[in-house]
Parts: sequence; structure tokens; C-alpha cells
Amino acid sequence: TFEQSLRPQSLSTYIGQEKVKNNLAIFIEAAKQRHESLDHVLLYGPPGLGKTTLAAVIANEMGVNMRTTSGPAIERPGDLAAILTALEPGDVLFIDEIHRLPRSIEEILYPAMEDFCLDIVIGKGPGARSVRLDLPPFTLVGATTRAGAISAPLRDRFGVLCRLEYYNEKQLTDIVIRTSEILNTEIEEIGAIEIARRSRGTPRIANRLLRRVRDFAQVRGDGIITLDLADYSLELLQVDRLGLDHIDHKLLKGIIEKFRGGPVGLETIAASIGEEPDTIEDVYEPYLMQIGFLQRTPRGRMVTNLVYQHFQLEMPMK
Ligand code: ADE
Repeated sequence: TFEQSLRPQSLSTYIGQEKVKNNLAIFIEAAKQRHESLDHVLLYGPPGLGKTTLAAVIANEMGVNMRTTSGPAIERPGDLAAILTALEPGDVLFIDEIHRLPRSIEEILYPAMEDFCLDIVIGKGPGARSVRLDLPPFTLVGATTRAGAISAPLRDRFGVLCRLEYYNEKQLTDIVIRTSEILNTEIEEIGAIEIARRSRGTPRIANRLLRRVRDFAQVRGDGIITLDLADYSLELLQVDRLGLDHIDHKLLKGIIEKFRGGPVGLETIAASIGEEPDTIEDVYEPYLMQIGFLQRTPRGRMVTNLVYQHFQLEMPMK
């Protein structure tokens, strides 16, 4: 589909994540030379950095099909069995949010990953018996925003661990320009740089902002994304100079105004601003910590001096 064509299909067109790409290229080539399936891969890191895209790239580079599911979607053993038995040799099984897989399902996955077999129980009570089904060799690609949230036995069964990192300004600029070309939108390089700067190191955000700025360019401008047009649009989208949005502001200002800058517990701050603790932890905090705006201490979250400077606020006396 058109949506898919926005995503890069190969390692050579995937921008950024150089270390991960270089290692994967070796492991893929080696597996192909041996005519084997690629070892299982765990992709972890903040949301929006391209884990799903990379899984599809891996399948494409291996020349196999990818089946996609997610941790919360697999509720019963039969759900997983149905997916596993439908795989063809070498296929990639992509499980997004793998940290949310029920423990009872994880246990079925262990022999599947290790020995490519499936132990299923037929019948109930005294007459129940267990049968072992052979599976084709396959590659499990798991994705998670928190490597720490997956159990040690599951983590240990992945042969390749890849941590995705935030993208720098140049990489995001290249992504914005690439996406503009696919969307057939004219963009000035400094306009692309401005969008990149305000995308929190995250391609998904960069591409979303690009689409919205393109809307403004089309309706309010002459269709060309200039620096002025990008600035004007991002202001209206409530994305600040550093890319922080309404919720980042609510979080940081909440800690300052209600808790004198912290430390404050995650649950407490979440309740006080009406957001989910998990969303704050997985989506908002990682970038704020990366730019040095937020610190996690044993007693809770604290904002740093940089936040007072960014909002031009006086630091309280402590
Ligand atoms: N679009 C989203 N992420 C991308 C990436 N890493 N490389 C190229 N295009 C992308």
C-alpha cells in the first residue's frame, strides 16, 4: 500500500541507527550464506524510532514474509499456536509490545524459539495428553519500549539484541526530505531542518509534523514548506522550539507548580495531570531525560535547572 511505501524497505534506504544496521547486515548475510533462518531479534527503545519498520526490513532482506501480531493480542495458547503453525520456513514473526505477552503464552514460546516445536495439550482431565508438533524454522522479532519489562528467560532466548536510539538532527532532516519527496511536497532545506529540530529525535513525530505543516502550506501558503511556514505551523500546533508539546509542558509545569520541582512519584504526578503513568513513563519521560530536563531519583521525578531556563521561570529556594 501507499502507507507502506513511506517506510524504507531495505537497510540501505533506512536512515540512522548505524550500529544496529551494520550488525544486522552481517547477521543477515551470514544466515543467508548458511541457508538458515536468522536468529531471533529483540528490538527495544522508545516508541516511534522505527522498530516495526526495521522488522519489515529484516524480513525483506532475508527474502521472507513477515507475520505481525502483538503481546496483548495473544490471549490464549491457541492464538499463538494458530500463528506459529501457519508460518513458512524462514518467515519473520513480529510480536510488537512483547513485554505485554501473558506469562502462560511465554512458556509456549520457549520451545518454539529454541527447538522449533510446539507442545500442545489435547483433551482435558485424566485423558489429556501432550503432543509435540514440529514447526518450520522461523525468526521471532520482538519489539518493546522497555527491555527491563520482559522476563529474563524470554530475553535470554533472543540471539540478537538491538537498542534503537534517538535520531540526530541531520538524520531526521534526511527523513523529512525523503518523506517530502514521497508525498510530492516541495520543502526548503531550512524548513526540513526546523521540523527535524522539533521532532524529539523521533521519525514518527517528524513525519506527523511534516504532514500537518504540509496542510498549512497548502491552505495558507503556496504549497511550499519554507522556514517561515514551518515556524508558523508548528506554533499553531503547540510544538515549542525544542519540540515539546502540550503534554510535555503539562508534565514539567505540573512538577514545578504542584511539587516545587520534585522529587515526586510517577503515580502522583500522573494523577495530578490526568495522564496514564505508563504513557508518561514510556512516551514522555525518555526524551525529557535524554535532553536533561528530567531526572529519576530514588525519591521520584525531578526537573532540572534547564526546565526553569526553558520556561523563563525563577528557581525556587530550597
Ligand atoms: N521513515 C521513518 N523512519 C525512517 C528511517 N529510519 N529511515 C528512512 N525513512 C524513515
